[in-house]
Amino acid sequence: MRRKTRICFIGCGAFCKSFVPLFKAHPDVEYTAVCDLIPERAQKYHEMFDVPIVPTFEDAISDPNFNAVAIFVQRHLHGPLVIEALKAGKNVYSAVPVASTIEEIVEIERLVRKTGLTYSMGETGYYRACAVFCREKMASGEMGDFVYGEAQYNHDQRHFHYSEEHHGKEWKKIAGIPPMLYPTHSTSMILGCLPGVYVEKLSAFGYEEKYLTDIFGREDQNYWGNPFSNTAMLCQLSNGGIARISENRRLAFAGPNSYISQFYGSEGCYEFAVSRHYFTHWDKNDPQKLLMDEVSHELLPKSVTAILNEPGTPQKISDQMGFWESAPRQHTERIPIEYRHEKNGHNGCHHFMVDDFCQAMATGLLSPTNIWQSARFNIPGLVAHQSAMQGGVLMDVPDLGDPPEDWPVLKLD
Ligand SMILES: NC(=O)c1ccc[n+]([C@@H]2O[C@H](COP(=O)([O-])OP(=O)(O)OC[C@H]3O[C@@H](n4cnc5c(N)ncnc54)[C@H](O)[C@@H]3O)[C@@H](O)[C@H]2O)c1
Repeated sequence: MRRKTRICFIGCGAFCKSFVPLFKAHPDVEYTAVCDLIPERAQKYHEMFDVPIVPTFEDAISDPNFNAVAIFVQRHLHGPLVIEALKAGKNVYSAVPVASTIEEIVEIERLVRKTGLTYSMGETGYYRACAVFCREKMASGEMGDFVYGEAQYNHDQRHFHYSEEHHGKEWKKIAGIPPMLYPTHSTSMILGCLPGVYVEKLSAFGYEEKYLTDIFGREDQNYWGNPFSNTAMLCQLSNGGIARISENRRLAFAGPNSYISQFYGSEGCYEFAVSRHYFTHWDKNDPQKLLMDEVSHELLPKSVTAILNEPGTPQKISDQMGFWESAPRQHTERIPIEYRHEKNGHNGCHHFMVDDFCQAMATGLLSPTNIWQSARFNIPGLVAHQSAMQGGVLMDVPDLGDPPEDWPVLKLD
């Protein structure tokens, strides 16, 4: 018997509106409602999606009518709400990241372990076509032993000017969040391909912003006294491999904004720039020869592949062409038929994020982006910001371990 989800969305801002229709359309979801501190925002969602309004978060978590909440509040506010929801016995879908402190993540893990409630972080990076490709090539053995990977998430914070409409002058104080407090888009693309692997230690360096000093700075420009607009970390992984992760919030690169540039193994290597994806591997018939396959058609949405050789294509990719579509490598065949005409997002990732949470709820199995995996995506960033603030000092990274052995992960792709 599949358990049905009855969920209240907390935070009716810019992002959540992409998800209400997906939850509403999912065959395992029975009931949806919305809640925002600011009543007009909840009212707008009510009118847009025909969903009831719950006045406060506290009302939602104390209402037995709901068995889950979806946290879509500002990125630095997740931890306390997730903890309260779990304590109230609610299952949790959370937008990224898990939380802003290691202590909060430890507490969330403790509560999930103790209660057996579902926790799933909606991480786009885990489902991107490049991550699916490298994960499958690793699993099949074609890449051999993992050696080195590079991933980044580039998003210039001047884009967040739009949030002035919601947050007034406070928008700059939120936009100045340390880049490494939002690390999961990049870490997930590397670690999500390496089951059971975690960051053991790291060293990070920050680029101290010289231009947008009204957003980034050591005074009161932002809530964190954060001077860094861009931060990079070099990580020693538990499997002996190395990863370079960059979180950039002030530079002139638009799209694609989140990608693996290199994922190197002893037997096969993946490499990407702008619009071209390549896979190199040893020739089975000649151990001295490397073969290079272009795999762009598998990893790009079909609309982009169709114009790949036209002169204006890089500009179109920079303008986020294909943002709403999935690529052939992503396993859209497993997505519920009800989603066929539902809008997608982040290169076809939204459908997977919602489906995995709902499948986890329905079956009692773990979502792939469960708290143990998400902690491994998130905690290195929190340590990296401390390392960067201390000029790159080498730091150990705490690991919360694997999921309990008697709680298997969904295997959907
Ligand atoms: N690629 C991605 O995965 C991706 C992309 C965009 C945003 N996000 C995430 O989505 C989340 C939401 O982002 P956004 O841009 O929509 O933010 P937003 O600021 O537009 O909206 C947040 C809303 O939460 C409400 N809120 C805050 N505290 C609340 C509380 N206690 N109870 C009820 N409502 C409360 C606010 O009033 C606001 O309307 C963030 O965590 C962000 O990290 C993820």
